[in-house]
This record gives sequence, C-alpha cells and structure tokens, in this order.
Amino acid sequence: MGKYKINSAIDNSVFVVTESFLKLSNMFKTLKNSHGKIIHVVGAPGTGKSANIYAAIEKQGLTVYDVKSQIKEVNINSQKVFNSVYNGFKKDFDVKSKKEVYNCLEGFDAILFVDMFHDSHLVDEDTVGFSVWSGNAGLRATKFYLLCVVEYLKERREYKRINIILQTAWRFHFRGKKYDLFTDMGILSKLVLAVMGTIFDVVVISYKPEETIKIVKNHVKADDKLIEHYIHEYGSKPRFICQALENED
Ligand SMILES: Nc1ncnc2c1ncn2[C@@H]1O[C@H](COP(=O)(O)OP(=O)(O)OP(=O)(O)O)[C@@H](O)[C@H]1O
Ligand SMILES: [Mg+2]
Repeated sequence: MGKYKINSAIDNSVFVVTESFLKLSNMFKTLKNSHGKIIHVVGAPGTGKSANIYAAIEKQGLTVYDVKSQIKEVNINSQKVFNSVYNGFKKDFDVKSKKEVYNCLEGFDAILFVDMFHDSHLVDEDTVGFSVWSGNAGLRATKFYLLCVVEYLKERREYKRINIILQTAWRFHFRGKKYDLFTDMGILSKLVLAVMGTIFDVVVISYKPEETIKIVKNHVKADDKLIEHYIHEYGSKPRFICQALENED
C-alpha cells in the first residue's frame, strides 16, 4: 500500500491539476473569510482525496489543525472514542473546558479530519486509526456518528465559528468484495451524495480518463494504451493503476 498512498502534505511531491482539484481549491478559498462550513471530500479508495486536500490547502495558504487519532485500543466503545477527540484537543491546546477548545479551534481556517485521524496507525504505530476502529466496530460505530450529530446540534453556535474538512468514506464488505457507499454503488451513491449535498458542502474527487493518464505518467513510465487497459480494469484510480504498472516491470 505504502508507495501510492498519501498520508501527509510531505508525500505530495508530484501533483497534476485536474477539474476536481480546481473545484476543491475554489471551495477551500472561501474558508479564509467564512466560517461554519463542513466540507466532505469523497472519492473511491486510491483516487486522490488526500493528494487533493493537501494540494488545495497549500494553494490557498490555509492554516489548519490536523486532528490526530487518540485511540489506543481497538475495542473501546463509541463514547470513549468521542471523548478521546475532545481530550486530544484539550491536551494539545492545554485547556480544560470545551468552550476554550472552540476558542482555540476558531484560530484556524479549518480543522482537518483526514489521514492523521483515519489512518494514524500508518504513521504512528502506537495509535489506532479511526478507520481501523470503525472497521472493527461495524454497525456499533453508528453511535459515534450519532454522538457527533448531538454535539453539533447542542453546540451549533460554536460550530458556526469553525470550518471542518472531512475525508469521508463508508466502506463495507459484500460477498467478499469491498465497496464504498459514496462512490461504488451507482444510483444509490448518487442519491446519498445528493442528500448529503443538501446539508453539507460535498466535493467528489474523480478523474476523466485523460486526467488519469496524465497523473499516472507523472508517477510511472508507461504508454497510453497500457494505462487505458488498466483504467478499464480498475477505474480511474491512480493508486491501483500505478501499482499494476509497477508489477509489470
Ligand atoms: N492529481 C494528482 N496528481 C498527482 N498524483 C495524484 C493525483 N491524484 C492522485 N494521485 C496519486 O494517486 C495515489 C493515491 O492518492 P491518495 O493516497 O491521495 O488517494 P486517497 O483517495 O486518499 O486514498 P485512500 O482512500 O486510501 O485514502 C497517490 O500516489 C497520489 O500521489
Ligand atoms: Mg487518503
């Protein structure tokens, strides 16, 4: 997985501008001057959510707070995971109350719940990433999302002061294959995205075949025909195409 997975801004040395990037970057531009936004960045695994988020943050010069998973054990319940997020803020900002936490968060253009939250275990083995915890918890993880909604409704005024960027995926297994609710389920994905779009700002990271070819060529030496063959096999997902090309050598 390592080589073609972006976990931080430092990994993002090769970057190709695409339509999805321009959309995301224009949305991020608004975060400097307005607050109260919750942006969901969705896209199939290995497409480029992380790459685009870090590139757009850099382009717009945003100051961000990168939330890190504080989960230490995979078997804890939703309430404990929820508390761990706030305890992490309190520890980082050296404050005692939630009110002070929101005051500190207001100082950033956006709060990121991306790789350091979802996949922290890939960077720091002492933590359990949220994706690992939720994968293990299965349906029990729903309570965590409910706690977030309740907190949001209770503290709506505080949330109007901050912006949140979420890398959102809802992965599940069906008949031995892995799917993402937001991108792999055809009409159902479109419906879910449409409903989400009425509540949040949503940006889908997806590429046209010609964009994918350009991206892949920036990572691996290969001719267009072979890349097209793999686009047909994997879809426009640079990670899987680059890996397949590398395995050919
Ligand atoms: N616009 C782009 N320019 C250059 N490389 C890109 C671009 N988009 C994606 N990539 C490359 O594709 C690979 C996968 O990207 P990334 O890790 O950001 O995907 P992801 O959608 O965040 O995946 P995951 O769902 O596993 O978190 C990386 O090697 C990244 O460099
Ligand atoms: Mg990612």
